[in-house]
Amino acid sequence: MTDWWRDAVIYQVYVRSFADGNGDGVGDLIGARQRLPYLKDLGVDAIWLTPFYPSPMADFGYDVADYRDVDPLFGALGDAKALIKDAHGLGLRVIVDIVPNHTSSAHPWFREALRGIGRDRYIFRDSRAGGPPNDWESIFGGPAWTQVEDGQWYLHLFDPAQPDLNWEHPEVNAEFDSILRFWLDLGVDGFRVDVAHGMVKPRDLPDIGHPGQVRLIGCEPVPYFDNDGVHDIHRRWRKILDSYPGERIGVAEAWAPTPERLAAYVRPDELHQAFNFHFLFTPWQAPALRRVIDESLATAGSVGAPTTWVLSNHDVKRHVTRYGSLARARAATLLMLALPGSAYLYQGEELGLPEVLDLPEEVCQDPQRLRAPDSGRDGCRVPIPWTRSLGWHRPWLPIPPSWGELSVEAQHGVPGSTLELYRAALRLRRTFQRAGYETLTWHDSPEGTLLFSRGDLVCAVNLTGSTAGLVTGEVLLTSDTPEALDSTTWWRGRVA
Ligand code: BGC
Repeated sequence: MTDWWRDAVIYQVYVRSFADGNGDGVGDLIGARQRLPYLKDLGVDAIWLTPFYPSPMADFGYDVADYRDVDPLFGALGDAKALIKDAHGLGLRVIVDIVPNHTSSAHPWFREALRGIGRDRYIFRDSRAGGPPNDWESIFGGPAWTQVEDGQWYLHLFDPAQPDLNWEHPEVNAEFDSILRFWLDLGVDGFRVDVAHGMVKPRDLPDIGHPGQVRLIGCEPVPYFDNDGVHDIHRRWRKILDSYPGERIGVAEAWAPTPERLAAYVRPDELHQAFNFHFLFTPWQAPALRRVIDESLATAGSVGAPTTWVLSNHDVKRHVTRYGSLARARAATLLMLALPGSAYLYQGEELGLPEVLDLPEEVCQDPQRLRAPDSGRDGCRVPIPWTRSLGWHRPWLPIPPSWGELSVEAQHGVPGSTLELYRAALRLRRTFQRAGYETLTWHDSPEGTLLFSRGDLVCAVNLTGSTAGLVTGEVLLTSDTPEALDSTTWWRGRVA
């Protein structure tokens, strides 16, 4: 066992916006494959590819019509195979997204269901008092139920084009076993499990009892999330993963009301990792960060799982914008990469890309933006600028011209650039993964700062205070000058 995943840095490729191999303005697998050397050079251990399966793209691929193929927009199955092979050749592992909570309404099963065949693979119910069967609302806004021609309603926690599957149906279970095996046979190293806390609903589908949107992202208990039955599925999947050589992993995208309930997803016989969104949503304040770091380490540690850390992804505002400055984002990144456990990077954060907040409404496409004016996710999905001239022909979302100076071309080899900071951090990070670096020890430090060590690594974070004079030794890396506010510095040395 190498336990490669326990401290891996995993880079999220949002395929549609990463690299365009065929010049149609949409990123694809050919483009992603061409950029593998860039990712190798960046220093990540694995990539996670967001869904590239045939899909009407009502939710950008999270509405899957065929789980065993590639959408022509993104290439062909052969491109996926070639990408996996090339990645492995470079020593990079490949994780793919699996979307088990719902299919696309274009999936053959749902088409059959509309004709009255096999409806029990989904969640169909009769009307209640002439309206929907219960009071659940969709995460994208509006009722979570849509009525079909013969008067029944089907459940969709997301878009009406994403009908929820009924995981009590043996055929649903068997089908996903087979889908997992299909991709494992092609060599993938694991799965990011979409809405891993949502697959099983209580049979009586109880009302929530109060109006108001319930979001995917949040810890409020709701009857349709975090039901105990989901763990049976994860246990079953773990057995499948373990039946393949090479430590294939499952990563849960899960929300749970308490840290203990979240830890249940990564018990030794369930999935390997769960995203730690509590860290992502912690404000840039020393006490809050220290609390969430301690809580995260303790929670995962209680079941023997590694902690994960993530600051950005395709569903949230990029952390440069959330934190209000690039300096703070860089400091947050160095803090994250100094912590024990596994870290997830979202494409473009290594360039310091901000959220694009001024996309014209006519180009926005995310269904979630219809829920509330500020909730759209298009702004974090703008394509990656590869060159000063941006490197895309008519990208599906416009790239701000100012991003030419943030491009890979503009930052490559430039000391102090965000790209070089990430490269240096990932290179150094490998040296902290050896014996002696397992535990994190906090040291007293002035208000507005954080100070901890792991082995002979000392990490000093200035938020609103200063760590001047607290550490002696050699500065290994700093997100800015060691004494600037909003800076994180890695030292090889000791606390004075
Ligand atoms: C994905 C979202 C998607 C939703 C529905 C989430 O976990 O990250 O992008 O809209 O699942 O599949």
